[in-house]
Amino acid sequence: MAIPQHFIQELLARADVVEIVGRYVQLKKTGANFSGLCPFHSEKSPSFTVSPSKQFYHCFGCGKNGNAIGFLMDHTGAGFVEVVHELAQQYGMQVPEDDRSPAERARAAQETEKRHTLTDVLSRAGEAYKRHLKDSPRAIDYLKKRGLSGAVARDFGLGYAPEGWRTLASVFPDYTDPLLAESGLVIVGEDDADKRYDRFRDRIMFPIRSVKGEVIGFGGRVLGDEKPKYLNSPETPVFHKGRELYGLFEARAALRDYGYALVTEGYMDVVALAQLGFGNAVATLGTACTPEHVHKLFRFTEQIVFSFDGDAAGRRAARKALEAALPLATDTRSVKFLFLPPEHDPDSFIRAEGSDAFADAVKGAVPLSRFLLEAAAEDCDMETAEGRSHFAANARPLWQLLPPGTLAQQLLGEIAAQVQIGVHELEQLWDIRRAPRRSYEKELPAPD
Ligand code: UTP
Ligand code: MN
Repeated sequence: MAIPQHFIQELLARADVVEIVGRYVQLKKTGANFSGLCPFHSEKSPSFTVSPSKQFYHCFGCGKNGNAIGFLMDHTGAGFVEVVHELAQQYGMQVPEDDRSPAERARAAQETEKRHTLTDVLSRAGEAYKRHLKDSPRAIDYLKKRGLSGAVARDFGLGYAPEGWRTLASVFPDYTDPLLAESGLVIVGEDDADKRYDRFRDRIMFPIRSVKGEVIGFGGRVLGDEKPKYLNSPETPVFHKGRELYGLFEARAALRDYGYALVTEGYMDVVALAQLGFGNAVATLGTACTPEHVHKLFRFTEQIVFSFDGDAAGRRAARKALEAALPLATDTRSVKFLFLPPEHDPDSFIRAEGSDAFADAVKGAVPLSRFLLEAAAEDCDMETAEGRSHFAANARPLWQLLPPGTLAQQLLGEIAAQVQIGVHELEQLWDIRRAPRRSYEKELPAPD
């Protein structure tokens, strides 16, 4: 059942657009309206206005406009239904189409409540880490040595977790609060619950934010050569590595401005790229790229450029990304792969070669179709029938991941040409007409 229009009207009457926009944008009263810096494009002077009487926002710079629901959808990338439910809950209203049982509703409300509590704990820890950074010349020195500006450190909310086993006790008076363990900030001894200590000690802290801007986890880097180099928050009710991308919240405006996303492998890559003119960079969190990652990114942009370190590990990661992106590579989207020289990652490359060189590298990125063919041809001697058959066998599972469309059809033609058989023969061999392919996109869980 669709959500009735009268309910949407009631909700919009209750939810004040100024208050809602004000959660994300610093607004100043200017006459009858409010104004601020537009969150949808980058600007230095405010052309973004919110009208309390019309309950509408409008940007004279980029033309974006809409009501409170539209703002939340655009700003957080969430869907209509999701925004309506969330707002309804905030204003104590019940969505009429909600046909869940009272027990299910209560559980959902409890989960939301839990989420808010956990992100609140994490954000308080993040504030403390930021304060500690100001007091630690050693940590500041480290960031300076890495070439970071104060401005970019501030934008990304970087902090420092001091040495010592229980420094968070000064932030949270009850150090035994189960929420501290549940949020991943505190580790509880396996056989001795009294043995509790801070997970992050003597590390540079990178807060990881959800698309809504809540702190949902951290990455922490050692200042020296200790191992592990990076420590990440564990999986918690609010943090799933396979779904979250570092820097996505910070990148939203740049994703719109640039029209594409740059996917990297590291925290430092994102921060360095942002500082040197590529605010549209995000990173996976020490895990392979998943279809969920790609799905999430496609809510913000139609074009993705994956950037990989030029080493063997980078090549392997690129293969994983290819497999994650193929099911989502519809005809209106573009996916490319950028391989840096073997000795570089994006951070070291852009610092050594400069922003223009990096922009050139982006321009030269390999389209998904070509990378698929190259990946399938690896170790195949295309001069022999055996080699070409092997190539076809490698290409088949990759090709089958593609959604139906003209891209898939063209690639089929190219594979057939390289194998040196007709496209109809290949269709027959692969039994393509009989087994219609699935739409993977529909099978993915609804993003949060
Ligand atoms: P890299 O080892 O390539 O490090 O790990 P990096 O990003 O270049 O880091 P810097 O420049 O030395 O500071 C890439 C990513 O893999 C994850 C982190 O997300 C890191 O950014 N990683 C790496 C871990 O989770 N744990 C580790 O011990 C190492
Ligand atoms: Mn690096």
